[in-house]
Amino acid sequence: MRDKGFGDTFERFTKATGIKWLIITVTGWFGSNCGCKYRQDLLNKWFPYKQNNKMNDKITLNSILDPISPQIFFTEYWNKKHLIIRRNKFKDLFTWDDFNKCMNLYPDIKGLQVLDYREEGDGRWCLDKVRKGELKLPMLNKDTVYKLWKEGKSIAIPFAEYQKKDLVDICVEFEKYFHKGQVNVYASPKAGSKSFPPHADSTENFLFQQEGKQKWTIYKEFAPGKPKEILEEFVLEAGDLLYIPQYQYHKVDTIDARLMLSIHFTNKPKQSIKNFQISKPNANNRDRWINWVPKPPEKKQIQPDRRMVSDTWKKKYFKDKI
Ligand SMILES: [Fe+2]
Repeated sequence: MRDKGFGDTFERFTKATGIKWLIITVTGWFGSNCGCKYRQDLLNKWFPYKQNNKMNDKITLNSILDPISPQIFFTEYWNKKHLIIRRNKFKDLFTWDDFNKCMNLYPDIKGLQVLDYREEGDGRWCLDKVRKGELKLPMLNKDTVYKLWKEGKSIAIPFAEYQKKDLVDICVEFEKYFHKGQVNVYASPKAGSKSFPPHADSTENFLFQQEGKQKWTIYKEFAPGKPKEILEEFVLEAGDLLYIPQYQYHKVDTIDARLMLSIHFTNKPKQSIKNFQISKPNANNRDRWINWVPKPPEKKQIQPDRRMVSDTWKKKYFKDKI
């Protein structure tokens, strides 16, 4: 376990080395009755080490669901009830800066949708939906999409997992336990931007709030029933994670400019607690993340400055010139 602060390091050091004089000196600061644990806690408090809130190098289901263990998750929440995990570990997976870079690739963004664009229907505007080889709807130009965004329309970007390595790593980890999934980005420019009305999804949804706040309403009912009774209403902030079981009704109200990742998966066929299957990583043939950055050239031996080390100046020719 990593040391929380100087107190832990101090205790470890004195235990390992048997050096007592440090303890005596420090005991003097706290009074003669100071216990080891008390001293350790105080030193930790006074000299804390910076906590690492960034994602682990190795993303595991344990680290994603922490402090809930995967065992508790699958036995108590999976397919049964929603779960909110509040903390800051996941708030930098996809930032406004990432969104900005991504949106500037438009129109080269597969399946981008402007929500609430049409008066009729569910309001989605799927920009690359092709029917019989032709676009079902005319492609919007970049300025029009930006105008809609400025007016307050929400934007959805599906298949965003290859935007960042951490997102691919999260998918690879989840896909040991679930069938192949994907990452969708949901972005809204301001409070009151419309999102989907109450609905149920056929996927297990893990919602990572990245920027801003948004209000969630979870209904008691699961599809194919109808949403009637509100089970819970709450606000998610950057760094919070929400799990919603498949088929459970829910809705979002934007109360701020917000950026959220929906990382969702279907269940493996015949997956059950009694016969729980965990696949090897990449059993779903997910394309791996490749590091395309060329290796830096091997360090060449620095050539000494010839003018400084050579004997050129001593040669007769130069002497004559000077
Ligand atoms: Fe949904």
